[in-house]
Amino acid sequence: MNRYLPDHVHCKGERFHVLLTEEEIQKRTAEIGSKLARQFEGKRPIFIGVLNGAFIFLSDLMRLTPIPCEVDFIKLSSYGDEKVSSGEVIELKEINADLTGRDVILVEDIVDTGLSITFLADRLNSLQPASLTLVTLLHKVSATTRQVTLDHVGFEIPDRFVLGYGLDFSQEGRNLAQIYIQEDEV
Ligand code: IMP
Ligand code: MG
Repeated sequence: MNRYLPDHVHCKGERFHVLLTEEEIQKRTAEIGSKLARQFEGKRPIFIGVLNGAFIFLSDLMRLTPIPCEVDFIKLSSYGDEKVSSGEVIELKEINADLTGRDVILVEDIVDTGLSITFLADRLNSLQPASLTLVTLLHKVSATTRQVTLDHVGFEIPDRFVLGYGLDFSQEGRNLAQIYIQEDEV
């Protein structure tokens, strides 16, 4: 297989190196998938992926959760093309599925300030699901200012910009097979 796996990435004049390898991501994703399969055994949960960043993690996580399930997507905008959050969340694509009485598993790529996930949790809870489970691949713990309880976190990471495996920097880098972190400026 011809995966996109450079040692370093240059994007918009910034340099990034590998933070998490394909193997580490797959192993952790499988652990979370097994836990979800146990948690929802005999049920039929619906995964809600947050576009665009979570699409790759979601597709792997679903296939590593060996129970019947469904999927739908929501799309938010808060960053534009910048690296720093604008502090404002806008819903660009709403959920089509009826979530009333459903077991909902929200899947995010990364929790940074926590603004997006708290907005999403409020939004989904207003649709009266039977349960809401919050999953994120990455969590920048020291950057999170909102009070939020995450049910499953793939990796806690430093407060530096990352890209790859679905995450972008101004729309670039999503197809990288592993996760890269910005290097310090010299
Ligand atoms: P929050 O609302 O500040 O928690 O930001 C969450 C959203 O910002 C994520 O869903 C990502 O789309 C984006 N984001 C935050 N940090 C990064 C990063 O380091 N790389 C790429 N996207 C990021
Ligand atoms: Mg996102």
